Amino acid sequence: MDIKGTTRVCGLIGNPVEHSISPVIHNNLARMCEIDMLYTTFKVEKNDIRAAITGAYALNILGMNVTVPHKQAVIESLVNIDPLAASIGAVNTLVRVDGGYKGYNTDILGLKRSLEDENFPIKDENIIILGAGGASRAIAFLCATEEAKKVYLLNRTLDKAVGIAYAVNEHMGKEVIFPMEIKDYGSLPRDVKYMCIQTTSVGLHPHDEDVVIDDSSFYQLIHTGVDVIYNPYETAFMKMCRKSGAKTCNGMKMLLYQGIAAFELWNNVKVDETKAKLLYELMKKGMHINE
Ligand code: ATR
Repeated sequence: MDIKGTTRVCGLIGNPVEHSISPVIHNNLARMCEIDMLYTTFKVEKNDIRAAITGAYALNILGMNVTVPHKQAVIESLVNIDPLAASIGAVNTLVRVDGGYKGYNTDILGLKRSLEDENFPIKDENIIILGAGGASRAIAFLCATEEAKKVYLLNRTLDKAVGIAYAVNEHMGKEVIFPMEIKDYGSLPRDVKYMCIQTTSVGLHPHDEDVVIDDSSFYQLIHTGVDVIYNPYETAFMKMCRKSGAKTCNGMKMLLYQGIAAFELWNNVKVDETKAKLLYELMKKGMHINE
């Protein structure tokens, strides 16, 4: 990489940030698209978010990604926010505008594009979302805005599922999300088949064998299983889905496309599918993933 006086800087703020794959994504994109930009990570403590955003603007930083634990807290330091990101209540991408940064949620754009890429449509689907954390919240909004038929949101802690359902249903002005306790999965209507999106941290490496619902009868209900986890590359959840005949995908493409969407916003370019495919291979290499 040729770093010059003209090179613009982008970066990731969060804590921890050391193991992020985002530098691999953005520095390769910059090289492939011949854009004079570099990307690095900035570890930022909880109490320093406002100072970090003000300082970044003063330093002429082009854009930032935001990761755990700052995706919600960063909002009050922004000068503008995309309406969908505002409804979700979480941003992961900051774009430099006059006077500060505007917040977007490209996690949701990433999932949307990855499901389109796999040819897994959301429209008119009956969907089960497992988990009610930050990822689940964005995904619930996506399912609702993309006109899923019915969405059952199952979580160990019912309150959190109820909270997300309330926010999404209010945004939509109708009841799309139905919250449930995860242990009550047996009471899901059995006359339809579902797309199931797994958003809990269960099954994340090194707990590769763990699965949030360990009952093969549940997987009989599923025609498509999507896991937001990408390490391991095939999760125990995906294995159980596959055993019952469902199609599956992991979270790698979601990660790929959330990065591409951020890069496109910062640089006002379009990344084509050939470059996206090449980048996907570079990411797998960067993460030491062999299929
Ligand atoms: P993220 O922001 O990545 O979605 P998170 O906010 O930490 O992560 O949410 C983690 C999700 O995994 C939650 O839905 C959590 O359930 P609770 O809300 O009940 O805590 C779920 N989760 C984590 N460990 C779990 C376990 N052993 N069994 C069931 N659910 C679990």
